[in-house]
Amino acid sequence: MTLKQEILKILEENRGKSISGTKLAQQLFVTRSAVWKAIKSLQKEGYRITAVTNKGYCLAPYNDIISAESIDPFLRDKAREFTLHVHQSVTSTNTIAKGMAAQGALEGTVIIAREQTEGRGRMGRTFYSPDSTGAYFSIILRPKLSIEDSLRITTATAVAVAKAIERIAGVEAKIKWVNDIFVNGKKVCGILTEASLNFENGGLEYAVVGIGLNITTQDFPEDIKAIAGSIFKDKPKDTPITSILIAEILNNIADIKDTLIDEKYLEEYRNRSFLIGKDILVLKGDKKIPARAITIDDKARLVVEYEDKTIEPLSSGEVSIRPR
Ligand code: BTN
Repeated sequence: MTLKQEILKILEENRGKSISGTKLAQQLFVTRSAVWKAIKSLQKEGYRITAVTNKGYCLAPYNDIISAESIDPFLRDKAREFTLHVHQSVTSTNTIAKGMAAQGALEGTVIIAREQTEGRGRMGRTFYSPDSTGAYFSIILRPKLSIEDSLRITTATAVAVAKAIERIAGVEAKIKWVNDIFVNGKKVCGILTEASLNFENGGLEYAVVGIGLNITTQDFPEDIKAIAGSIFKDKPKDTPITSILIAEILNNIADIKDTLIDEKYLEEYRNRSFLIGKDILVLKGDKKIPARAITIDDKARLVVEYEDKTIEPLSSGEVSIRPR
């Protein structure tokens, strides 16, 4: 850890409280002038740190710049074992995480960015990821699952995200199979899971689960304007909301990740699904086939009934609600 990171860690742990420069210097075995220089540099990066004579340095309670140090105080239990790498700007956290996983990075390695310049969505689409108005992060998992069961990773993550939004933002979060989270009728989160296969045992070598959350993004590009939305209109003023949301999602994923094979979480998925019982269109190539969504089965597949009464469990693909 650099001196700057160590100071940030202490300030994050004491958000809203003042700590004297002398105390920081003594604790970190450096001079007061080194502390002052590090504080100046953090302020230049945008951290809201006030310096008051005879009191010391204080990180504003509402400072919402994400860093490993800002997320750490909100992690619980198993999520504390995750290793967080936070970047200002990357092409795509999924691309970086896949590279690291291929090089042997451990389960629980998390790549987080304040901005993505080439954020990727499903079906070759892009994911709009502007600076500091969302959370964009990817987690490396190494689950003991067959490829057949791999859909559980995405669906369990959708439950983890929906629960976090509900707990932290206090709004209802619904899931559109397979991986979109909706709040107030707008998509606020997408999940992109990419996996590498182990051909010898037919299992997964690793999975990278990428989560893109719109927290206060407002100015969406024309092509997604009608469907995309954000959790908040403005950021709550008194909390580091982005860090808290990321931490809560990681807490939920840590709780769920070793029990993917047991189907308990699927009940929570079904309860939040807004497709079940609805008339939908199933996208196959460039065809849109009318069907009715019947249920989510025990393998997390969407079971649909076509107009000729044939039934098909879908394990991938795209569906949309049929306009009346
Ligand atoms: C979708 O809605 O189609 C999925 C969007 C997934 C976006 C996230 S943002 C973090 C991670 N990095 C990416 O490039 N994509 C995922």
